[in-house]
Amino acid sequence: MIISKVCILGGTGFVGRHIAARLSQQGVQTRILTRNREQHRETLLVLPGVELFETNIYDPATLETHFRGRDAVINLVGILNEHKRGDFHIAHSELPRLVANACVKVGMPRLLHMSALGADPAGPSAYQRSKGIGQEAVHQAGKDSAGLLMVTIFRPSVIFGEGDSFFNRFANLLRRIPFFLPLAKPNAKMQPVWVENVTDAYVEALSNPGTYGQIYDLCGPKAYTLRDLVAYTQSLIGTNKAIIGLPDWVAMMQAMVLEKLPGQLLTRDNLLSLSVDNICTGSCFPAIFGLQARSLESVVPSYLGRDVSKG
Ligand SMILES: NC(=O)c1ccc[n+]([C@@H]2O[C@H](COP(=O)([O-])OP(=O)(O)OC[C@H]3O[C@@H](n4cnc5c(N)ncnc54)[C@H](OP(=O)(O)O)[C@@H]3O)[C@@H](O)[C@H]2O)c1
Repeated sequence: MIISKVCILGGTGFVGRHIAARLSQQGVQTRILTRNREQHRETLLVLPGVELFETNIYDPATLETHFRGRDAVINLVGILNEHKRGDFHIAHSELPRLVANACVKVGMPRLLHMSALGADPAGPSAYQRSKGIGQEAVHQAGKDSAGLLMVTIFRPSVIFGEGDSFFNRFANLLRRIPFFLPLAKPNAKMQPVWVENVTDAYVEALSNPGTYGQIYDLCGPKAYTLRDLVAYTQSLIGTNKAIIGLPDWVAMMQAMVLEKLPGQLLTRDNLLSLSVDNICTGSCFPAIFGLQARSLESVVPSYLGRDVSKG
């Protein structure tokens, strides 16, 4: 399958910007649907072949209009926290279903869907459950299409790279906080994966028939505890705050306060997500992509310390 025209939902975000840049380099015409074109025009419209449309992605007719004439759709829309009850359901469960339906309606041959490691309709957090329901709906839509819609699903652990919110957020916090960092779930495990490796997988999958109908977990080469990762961040930015691991009941009280404040630094739902290890079993990166996942130690020092814009 030759892919020369792609439509991306959530293409203005951290992962989306990396994928759009790579597709642009490869000469792929990329249409990004966004809720706010003005906000992203300077970063994305400079990329050759990239166009931005401000539109309502929850309207089926709008989706069909934008999908017509494209060779593939990539859905990256996702949120970490709800502003109001039901936001997870709409963005993670309902939207993937609408996207898959619109794909079937217009005869779209290819759909790449971003889920998350730990996504599970029976998972402990609302985030994981909503992602799990969306993932299952998209996978099923591919199966039901009798070979007309080829679906591939990705489930990454935490993603790091230029512009990430994980390392940049902890770096900003460590710089601002006075004496010590009270850390919830310090022993939670995760296996961060480089955004360029995630991009490699997406771009390869677009036209590789071996990935049709598949669901891939994506991880970096090594698992860490949250405490390890925060300590590593300190070592890179040169702060020396004590990292105090909180017992779960104190963390829950901390989250009850923080989730009410602007920025929602931590929510009770985040804590529930962290109660399940976010690591890959078996090989960290699927062999079909033919690459060695990069370690965070070989990448994070190149951007941490200068990218302080993210809160
Ligand atoms: N970053 C990670 O560590 C990580 C790990 C595992 C899985 N993932 C998944 O990977 C995907 C991309 O992550 P990311 O880090 O790139 O996220 P991001 O930077 O927050 O970008 C997500 C994009 O989705 C769109 N969006 C957000 N909320 C929306 C809503 N309520 N309705 C419609 N559109 C909305 C936004 O586009 P507009 O503002 O332009 O509309 C935004 O640019 C998400 O599905 C996420 O769950 C990320």
